[in-house]
Amino acid sequence: MSSEIKPQSIVIAGGGSTYTPGIVMMLLDNLDRFPIRKLTFYDNFAERQETVAKACDICIKENAPEIDFSWTTDPKTAFTDCDFVMCHIRVGLFAMREQDEKIPLKYGVIGQETCGPGGIAYGMRSIGPVIEILDYMEKYSPNAWMLNYSNPAAICAEACRRLRPDSKIINICDMPIDLGDRMADICGLESRKQLDIGYYGLNHFGWWHSIKDLDGNDLMPKIREHMAKFGFSQADKPKDDESWNDTYRKAADTFAVDPSKIPNTYLQYYLYPDDMVVHMDPNYTRANYCVDHREKDVFEACQKIIDSGTSKDCGFEADEHAQYIVDLSMAMAGDAKEKMLLIVPNDGALENFEPESMVEVPCIVGKDGYEIVPQGKISEFQKGLMEQQVAVEKLVVDAWINHSYQEMWQALTLSRTVPSAKVAKQILDDLIEANKDYWPELK
Ligand code: NAD
Ligand code: G6P
Ligand code: MN
Repeated sequence: MSSEIKPQSIVIAGGGSTYTPGIVMMLLDNLDRFPIRKLTFYDNFAERQETVAKACDICIKENAPEIDFSWTTDPKTAFTDCDFVMCHIRVGLFAMREQDEKIPLKYGVIGQETCGPGGIAYGMRSIGPVIEILDYMEKYSPNAWMLNYSNPAAICAEACRRLRPDSKIINICDMPIDLGDRMADICGLESRKQLDIGYYGLNHFGWWHSIKDLDGNDLMPKIREHMAKFGFSQADKPKDDESWNDTYRKAADTFAVDPSKIPNTYLQYYLYPDDMVVHMDPNYTRANYCVDHREKDVFEACQKIIDSGTSKDCGFEADEHAQYIVDLSMAMAGDAKEKMLLIVPNDGALENFEPESMVEVPCIVGKDGYEIVPQGKISEFQKGLMEQQVAVEKLVVDAWINHSYQEMWQALTLSRTVPSAKVAKQILDDLIEANKDYWPELK
């Protein structure tokens, strides 16, 4: 049973993120169930954060003036007296994401935010700042929890497992949430919360192995039938964003390799890197698209609110991305014992997989954090892929800790997306040059 929730103090780290307004709207929509006394934005880029914060300030004053809202770049001010830190930073901003995507593409290798060399490069940038924020939280609010969705979540999670094993941090991802809602819809159900799921994998590298409704009826046959024909795409639910429509469709090919399970869409980059490269424009990547669309739209909407002095008809909405973040904090604060997919230490979750690793599995969430729902043994195909990928993630963390060129080269060479050690080295040398303001100096 969930208990009455006392008013919470929340910090959004990465206050200047394009996702911040959506989270604020979701928090405002849920105040009756998840009361908030204090909301603070923290960022290391004052001007960027200020635009988002001034717009949110107007919105909060119009909807919930009782909330003590402020924004700051000072860690002590930000992290003192907080219950939850919702962390979504992008170290190096979209300019560095563009490098992560364009450098591998020069060598015919996929350029992606979290997968392959791009994700590895981003990981090397994110580890230090994510741990820094965790340390601030623990220094100023030792009882607080950090909910991290800064990417690449798999590498951030592995770094925290290694470097801060006792810290109160949970890493999460919205991809299975979106796909869960799609599968529920395919089965004629309203939401993923009506699915009882079995899932295992690494972040952006996992599979549903069982899906039932809450009465225990097997939904896999129905979902399989849809996946084989359409992947996750649904004729009546196209997105405005064509690259997501392509991704949903491509899931049919990923599914075909092992139709006993339902794959996470991110597996397309590992199973079909050749197809993916052909579809990527080396001169205009996803980072360019996000700057021209999401970033532009959000900052224009913020400016409009600031100029007009009101958030009425502003277009901000509590989107599905924000939902899981607020759901997670609500389940923890209210001790709801809700089942959610989290990125956690293996610790018995997967019997025949590396115990010293971070995996994405269902957990029961309550006031003391989470309890893993064991998923038993994983199959040979998944095991082989996951062992290779988890080694990549571990080697990146090793390379960051040891400042090791050799380990970075090994990480890139081991990624399924990279064809040879020679290409891995060429990409690495370019990435080092591009990331000199962010990575430790490799020896
Ligand atoms: P964004 O660039 O709009 O926002 C990121 C913010 O982080 C910026 O305001 C930036 O100044 C700030 N920042 C960067 N380094 C910082 C540091 N060291 N300390 C404090 N603030 C810092 O990016 P976005 O597109 O809104 O995405 C934000 C993050 O959320 C990214 O990491 C993205 O990959 C991640 N994300 C994760 C999931 C998931 O499934 N886990 C889903 C969506 C987005
Ligand atoms: C999904 C993933 C996130 C990722 C995002 C990229 O939501 O779960 O981890 O950051 O997609 O979206 P974008 O629009 O920035 O390419
Ligand atoms: Mn994700």
